[in-house]
Amino acid sequence: MRKNIVAGNWKMNKNLQEGVALATELKELLASEKPNCEVIIGTPFIHLATVAELLKDSVIKVSAENCADKASGAYTGEVSAEMVKSTGATYCILGHSERRMYYGETYEILKEKTLLALANGLKPIFCIGELKEEREAGKQNEVVKAQLEGSVFNLSAEEFSKVVLAYEPVWAIGTGLTATSDQAEEIHAYIRSLIAEKYGEEIAENTTILYGGSCKGSNAKELFSKPNVDGGLIGGASLKANDFKEIIDAF
Ligand code: 13P
Repeated sequence: MRKNIVAGNWKMNKNLQEGVALATELKELLASEKPNCEVIIGTPFIHLATVAELLKDSVIKVSAENCADKASGAYTGEVSAEMVKSTGATYCILGHSERRMYYGETYEILKEKTLLALANGLKPIFCIGELKEEREAGKQNEVVKAQLEGSVFNLSAEEFSKVVLAYEPVWAIGTGLTATSDQAEEIHAYIRSLIAEKYGEEIAENTTILYGGSCKGSNAKELFSKPNVDGGLIGGASLKANDFKEIIDAF
C-alpha cells in the first residue's frame, strides 16, 4: 500500500535559528502523539545538516528543496545531490513551479536532477501542475502528462518506485485558492492512470501523489479523504508548527 505523506516546503523562509526553533517545536509536538502519516520537512540547504541531526531520532524526515543538475565541479553556488545526502536529508523536492518559472528549469534539467537525486539515494518529491491559463483552457491533463514524460518517465520501474509526485496547480499556490477536492481527485486519478500505462498497475497503486496549493488545516481533511490524494505538500501552513500539525492531524 502507498504511504500517506504530509510534507512541508519552507521555501526561502526562516533563518537558521528560526528554522531550528520550528523543527524543535514540531519534533516536540509529534513526540507525544505519533502521526498517522509520514511527515517530512523541506528546508533551505543551510538548515539541512542541523535539522537532520536534530530530527534523527524523531518521526520527521528531512528534504532539500532543490539540488544541482551536475554531479560536482566548477558550478559556483550550486549544491549537489551528494552534498544533500551527506547532511542526513532523505528527500529532495524537484520541479517546483517556482523553480520552473523563476530559474528556468526545463524538462531536461529536471530529468538530470532527478537522476542525480536517485543515484545519490535521495527520494525525489517531483512537482507538476498547470498554470491558471492552462486550467482555463482545459489543458491541465496535457500539461501534467508532458511534465511527467519530459522528466521522469525515462526512469526505470525500480527508480520510479522511489519517486513521490506532488500535483500543485500553480493558480492555487500561495493564493488562498485551493483546488476543490473533486478537481484534485480527478487529476490525481488521471496522473495515476498515466503511471499505470507506463509502469503497470502495481507501481501506480504504490505511488504517493500529494496535493499542494493553499492546503491548510481547514481543507486538508476533505482533500485527503479522496482516494487518489495521498497527502499534501504544504507551503505557508508549514511555517508554524501548530498549523502544520493540524494538517498532519487530518490523517
Ligand atoms: P502554499 O501552501 O503556500 O500555497 O504553497 C504550496 C507549495 O508551493 C508547496 O510546495
